[in-house]
Amino acid sequence: MNILNKLYLFIIKYFYEKKVFIEKELIVLGKFPHFKLPKNGKVKFGNKVVINSDFKNSNTALTYKCKFVTGYDGFIEIGDNTMMNGTCIVSYKNVRIGRNCQIASSTLISDTDFHPIDSKTRKAQVEGRPFSFDMVKKDEIKIGDNVWIGWNSTILKGVQIGENSVVAAGSVVLKGIYPNNSLIAGNPAKVVKVLD
Ligand SMILES: CC(C)(COP(=O)(O)OP(=O)(O)OC[C@H]1O[C@@H](n2cnc3c(N)ncnc32)[C@H](O)[C@@H]1OP(=O)(O)O)[C@@H](O)C(=O)NCCC(=O)NCCS
Repeated sequence: MNILNKLYLFIIKYFYEKKVFIEKELIVLGKFPHFKLPKNGKVKFGNKVVINSDFKNSNTALTYKCKFVTGYDGFIEIGDNTMMNGTCIVSYKNVRIGRNCQIASSTLISDTDFHPIDSKTRKAQVEGRPFSFDMVKKDEIKIGDNVWIGWNSTILKGVQIGENSVVAAGSVVLKGIYPNNSLIAGNPAKVVKVLD
């Protein structure tokens, strides 16, 4: 482990105690990730998770550094050996990503819409009037083991992706259950193939 990685782990342990949990080893490449974890928001990393925000040495273009954002009670859990590259994960409820997953650059995974559909409530939100975040839809996301998520994909609330599946580049995956071994592609994403 290099000195920068050691420093990052020290910062996480010191400044994010009781917020960010590391199973054993965490590999942080490039820039320090962004954590926004108010109140009870938490992130748990399995062993040897890779958080890549290295703009210089990445094989493909990263557009932003890795970001972990929660609401007051959000929870993000990432399984052993999973690699994230300039990935943004937002949880106002629960986002669980399995082991051995590969998540490509510019990928957004969010279990909340952030704004309600209803225009009157959105107006209240914009004008800073009293507004309940309960009006905003949220639903858990679960991504199984060994899933590969391609470039520029967006995973929205209520998605469950079965293990060994692949999400093709640029997909927008909407609420639903996608079985194990699926090739998921398009906008809105559909299962286009069952993988061997
Ligand atoms: C997912 C992917 C790997 C599949 O490649 P493949 O096995 O060669 O699959 P094919 O090109 O035969 O496509 C299979 C079907 O999925 C569709 N498809 C594949 N990628 C798609 C995409 N990004 N968007 C929409 N449809 C897609 C194809 O049109 C095809 O549909 P059809 O059977 O009706 O003709 C590839 O399409 C892809 O997205 N590559 C990008 C990988 C990436 O993001 N890498 C990041 C580095 S970590």
